[in-house]
Amino acid sequence: MALISFFSAKGAPGVTSTAMLVAALWPRQTLLVDADGNGGDLLMRLPSESGLALTQHPGLLTLLPLARHGLSSGVVLDHSQVALGGQQVLVGLETSEQAEASAALWPTLARAFREVPGTDVVVDAGQLAARSGQLSLVQRSDLVVGVVRAEPASVMHMRERLTVLTQTFAALGADAPRIGLVALSGVQRQDEASSAIATVRADFPEVLDLGQVALDPRPERMFHGDPVSRPERTMLVRSGRSLVERLVAALGPAVVLDAGTDRPGDADPTADDPPPAPDAATGQEEPADGIPGGGPADPAADADTGESDEAHGERRLRRERSRKKRWSLR
Ligand SMILES: Nc1ncnc2c1ncn2[C@@H]1O[C@H](COP(=O)(O)OP(=O)(O)OP(=O)(O)O)[C@@H](O)[C@H]1O
Ligand SMILES: [Mg+2]
Repeated sequence: MALISFFSAKGAPGVTSTAMLVAALWPRQTLLVDADGNGGDLLMRLPSESGLALTQHPGLLTLLPLARHGLSSGVVLDHSQVALGGQQVLVGLETSEQAEASAALWPTLARAFREVPGTDVVVDAGQLAARSGQLSLVQRSDLVVGVVRAEPASVMHMRERLTVLTQTFAALGADAPRIGLVALSGVQRQDEASSAIATVRADFPEVLDLGQVALDPRPERMFHGDPVSRPERTMLVRSGRSLVERLVAALGPAVVLDAGTDRPGDADPTADDPPPAPDAATGQEEPADGIPGGGPADPAADADTGESDEAHGERRLRRERSRKKRWSLR
């Protein structure tokens, strides 16, 4: 199965939120791994499915000691928890000291992550440097995705970091992972995201252009455990879908051909409403990049169709249910 790692060079451009977005929208079941070497965030950001706090046990803290003796692939999910909305998560370590102390075990983890049955693994690697312990996990990924803000300082730091990372990866020869770049920019600022990526690719043409994730604060609150209505109609999720499409394309047939192992919720027979992506309410086609050209993202979705209140209520309930299935984090 696929292993995809997200990292930043400096600052807090949005690695955790972008990894959560991708994990939630991925076409197959995912395990979201918090491997931030500066200490994990997931524990603080999301409650568990039952509404209680996520805990450090089980998590990396309980899985890592087992890695000393090798790991069978099936054991990984035993150490995961289910976050609010249904996302399977592997809670991270609390401190950078714990991460450093466990550096030698990451290669074993990487092997096990690649073999989790029926599950692709999305890693939040946090800030990544040449000496980061989690580099030995990241470099065993199928795809390594840098996250930048479309701002000069963020772009400059990413260029510097890529200089080091591409040298490190080059030593792996044919086993080196591909690198991609995604830029976070304001909702209507896709041009800034494009030019940020173009600036980096001028020096690193082999880096894949993975496009924009919209900076969209209201729906992004769902990644902090807050309720958000109709996230699927927001720029954040539309740009997330576009990113997922690009990632799937970059990963190639391994993901596409095997798409029979869909997320369990996707088979819900009650999910009989049309998918929201082509905007049924406005009749607008969603552009290929997933970011609508203009106008409000969340127009009157329940316009009067002349049906009875009861039928309308039932239709709405079904849609809410199917949305929950499609949107696994919230
Ligand atoms: N797409 C987005 N739209 C709006 N706000 C965002 C988005 N992504 C991230 N943010 C905000 O940016 C801040 C940093 O996000 P996040 O924690 O994901 O970054 P990070 O790179 O993982 O940071 P750190 O290195 O501290 O772990 C948070 O306040 C988050 O709410
Ligand atoms: Mg983070």
